Amino acid sequence: MLKSTLSILAGAGVLALAGFGIYAYHSPYAVEPPSARPAFDPAQVEQGRILAAAGYCATCHTAAGGAPYAGNFPVTTDFGTIYASNITPDPETGIGNWSKAAFRRAMHEGVDREGRHLFPAFPFDHFTKMTDADVDAVYAYLMTEVAPVKEATQAPTIPFPLNQRILQAGWKLLFVDFGRYADDPSKSAEWNRGAYLVEGVTHCGACHTPRNKVGAEEKSARFAGATIDAWSAPALTAANPSAVPWTAADFTRYLSTGAGTYHGIAAGPMAPVVHAGLRELPESDLTAIGVYLGNVVGAPEADPAASPAVQASLAAGRPDPAWRADEGERLYATACAACHYNAESIVAERPELGINSSTRLDDPSNLIHVILDGVSSAEGTPGVVMPAFRDALSDQQIAAIAAYLRDKRADLAPWTDLETRVAQIRAHQGTH
Ligand code: HEC
Ligand code: HEC
Ligand code: HEC
Repeated sequence: MLKSTLSILAGAGVLALAGFGIYAYHSPYAVEPPSARPAFDPAQVEQGRILAAAGYCATCHTAAGGAPYAGNFPVTTDFGTIYASNITPDPETGIGNWSKAAFRRAMHEGVDREGRHLFPAFPFDHFTKMTDADVDAVYAYLMTEVAPVKEATQAPTIPFPLNQRILQAGWKLLFVDFGRYADDPSKSAEWNRGAYLVEGVTHCGACHTPRNKVGAEEKSARFAGATIDAWSAPALTAANPSAVPWTAADFTRYLSTGAGTYHGIAAGPMAPVVHAGLRELPESDLTAIGVYLGNVVGAPEADPAASPAVQASLAAGRPDPAWRADEGERLYATACAACHYNAESIVAERPELGINSSTRLDDPSNLIHVILDGVSSAEGTPGVVMPAFRDALSDQQIAAIAAYLRDKRADLAPWTDLETRVAQIRAHQGTH
């Protein structure tokens, strides 16, 4: 009896393995040399250029100082480093030999031309939402406008057995909802357009949604905020700690310019998302993203200038005789106040730090990054610069300024272990 139960179990195991094998197996697509490819319609190529920008393909697929799309940009994960592939049309080391069908399968299913599973450091879990027409446009753009570059992609540093690509099939089975975006008929066309862009090509959740232990986005905590490269990507839900609630119009403004008068600026990993990405989208698409996110957060439109939080912040920033009571205030008064003092109303180019996102997040990382390294003219508002204080201020002084801004200006629960955090971020070698 026991024996037959065991053999049934073993039989079931073999069947399950065979089933998994069938699920995991993907046949290779035949090589399609570039000469076999017909010319693409210029309108399709242009559409592809915009979508490639909105999907930040170049941000991940270009190494520092490397040729565009030639790969080898290191994507670091808890399991090791995965180098983004060469996706130039070079037939040998890039994707020059890939047919349209092979490219669609990579984007929609995370499987390469030869049938190997790709690691989800490549956000195919979002690109699976893109329409065939949009994926084909990206293909047309890469094959036409990108110069072929011969450069072999480095192997990932993931240790055995996790480096076995077949295991990715299990990960996909557990965590990925494959399939194109389906319209929600109860919502407007504009909302659906925004949702399509956010969930698919622009993959906001890849940074703004926390991940579980095996690196998959937590579906139950969508947009709840996460840490990326030692920066905090804030919650894009009602849990966002903003003093002035985000509205659809605020989102659109921030995403098209990189700066929001009442929240802050894109200075870290968000900077290329705006400047190398979203800004290429037509205005109607940025408005649609704003409408969708405004609905996720759920704040009605209101005049932010009249907000009591804004008035309180302006009042707290006004110099008064008792102002230099502690070290943080004194340092702030000499190093920062000249540029960050707003008299009557707030100007985007002169962030009001009492309501700035970096002082309101539970994690002080973003504020510390900005004080250490400033904001270059290419980040935040184009052409506007905030100086770096890395060499001018000690860890202890930066911690004192941060504590002052948090306790006295944002008026929120104090941050702990600030000095240690400043030292860590000073030593951090980020890719941003
Ligand atoms: C967050 C970083 C990131 C972004 C953004 C990204 N990729 Fe990738 N991509 C990767 C990584 C890493 C790999 C390698 C995965 C692996 O080795 O398993 C990859 C692999 C690929 C591959 C497979 C290539 C091959 O030779 O196997 C294709 C095709 C691809 N990406 C296209 C794109 C396109 C098109 C976009 C923009 C719409 C894009 N990627 C955006 C990180 C990224
Ligand atoms: C020379 C003028 C100047 C000085 C001095 C200065 N800042 Fe700034 N700061 C700016 C400008 C300009 C911006 C906005 C940059 C942009 O929009 O691209 C900015 C942005 C910021 C931001 C916003 C970051 C975000 O993500 O929204 C913070 C925080 C900040 N500064 C803190 C400080 C602190 C703290 C000091 C003192 C240690 C300081 N600044 C000194 C000009 C200055
Ligand atoms: C590569 C990671 C990454 C991606 C992709 C990304 N973000 Fe961000 N985002 C961040 C980080 C980190 C910050 C914090 C500020 C910074 O980097 O300057 C941020 C800041 C923001 C803010 C400001 C929040 C606040 O409270 O100040 C908004 C709004 C935002 N992102 C929206 C989006 C949207 C919408 C998308 C998709 C279209 C997106 N982000 C894609 C990393 C990312």
